Amino acid sequence: METVIRFLFCVINLCVSFKNPNSCYDQSKLEAKHKALFVFGDSLFDPGNNQYLNGSTGEGISATYWPYGQTFFNHPTGRLSDGRIVPDFIAQFADLPILPPYMEPGAHRLADGVNFASAGAGVLDGTHPGTIQLRMQLEYFKTLKKSLRQQLHDAEAEKVLRRAVYLFSIGGNDYFSFYTSNPEASESYQQAYVEMVIGNLTLVLKEFYSLGARKIAFQNVGPLGCVPVMEAMNPELGSSCVEIPLALARLHNEYLSVTLNNLESQLPGFKYAIFDYYNSLGDRVNNPSKYGFKEGKVACCGSGTYRESGCGGREGKEPYELCRRPSEYVWFDGAHTTEMTNHQLAELLWSGKPNVTGPYNVKQLFGH
Ligand SMILES: *[C@@H]1O[C@H](CO)[C@@H](O)[C@H](O)[C@H]1NC(C)=O
Ligand SMILES: *[C@@H]1O[C@H](CO)[C@@H](O)[C@H](O)[C@H]1NC(C)=O
Ligand SMILES: *[C@@H]1O[C@H](CO)[C@@H](O)[C@H](O)[C@H]1NC(C)=O
Repeated sequence: METVIRFLFCVINLCVSFKNPNSCYDQSKLEAKHKALFVFGDSLFDPGNNQYLNGSTGEGISATYWPYGQTFFNHPTGRLSDGRIVPDFIAQFADLPILPPYMEPGAHRLADGVNFASAGAGVLDGTHPGTIQLRMQLEYFKTLKKSLRQQLHDAEAEKVLRRAVYLFSIGGNDYFSFYTSNPEASESYQQAYVEMVIGNLTLVLKEFYSLGARKIAFQNVGPLGCVPVMEAMNPELGSSCVEIPLALARLHNEYLSVTLNNLESQLPGFKYAIFDYYNSLGDRVNNPSKYGFKEGKVACCGSGTYRESGCGGREGKEPYELCRRPSEYVWFDGAHTTEMTNHQLAELLWSGKPNVTGPYNVKQLFGH
């Protein structure tokens, strides 16, 4: 059946593009290699889902104001950056179109994939209510699976899901919100909290597997104590990073690799990638010039010592500073990186060496 469809597709394609007879062959090769990308997580990966939420509490809403989006899209899209974010680059590297936000009205080509990420989202339901939590993103994915089974037939839909790559950035908000409400938490309390986050994350990943997901890629939790907004909250530290949020992120990341390694041995066909975002971003913050940046601590856009808040302004009216060249900065706003940083990070996630992205990188996951 599939062969027949592909043959017919080729014939039709040849007729329309007789000037380039190779295009039929190219097209069928592309079809055979075609793999979808599904994206889940928080503001680092949100392409604008939050602007479609009812009564949103504001997470990511500032990104619907200029100058967000100025570098690549020329208008704000809801992405918390001056331009593309990591999943946009990954889609481009994988020869896919830039994936639409799941919440965007209208028909989407589901077989390419969709992006479910929501600024402010965490693993735990209690983290930033009003955003699309990981568990809710999973529910939306189940809905998508039903639509996909209607668009293609069942066996074909299962195949698309099995071959797809599932990309996650989640956890940072759980720790930001934990640290803000428990700045003095004991080590045992911190550990219990990390275990709770990882416990819930593991349940969600097992559900993804049972829905057909086989190739999981994670950007691990970043150097939370080094984001400009954290630095600004702890002026007594000067320019050094805040230790407790860093420790929470490191512990989470250790547990994350153990968890994924365990899942790989328990679940047949399960493959994964973990990109060491923590160290990759941390090194750019501390040694910006090594990577072609001029500034690693102060953000490009915002007000305050580190320009840590207020980029875009509420209603676009409040004053804030904006740098001339975002590409010279690691950070665009108080918690989100510039397109230039995102491009570098995406390249590492896509094809980084095993000491940065492993045991597979995303390019290898797409190839398998
Ligand atoms: C927003 O509200 C409308 C109308 O009440 C409803 O149909 C829609 O499902 C809601 N969307 C979300 C994301 O809650
Ligand atoms: C998941 O998180 C809830 C709190 O939101 C917690 O009560 C529960 O124990 C966690 N589950 C696991 C398996 O860790
Ligand atoms: C990873 O290994 C490569 C050599 O394979 C080396 O050049 C690079 O510096 C290493 N990166 C880190 C972060 O250790």
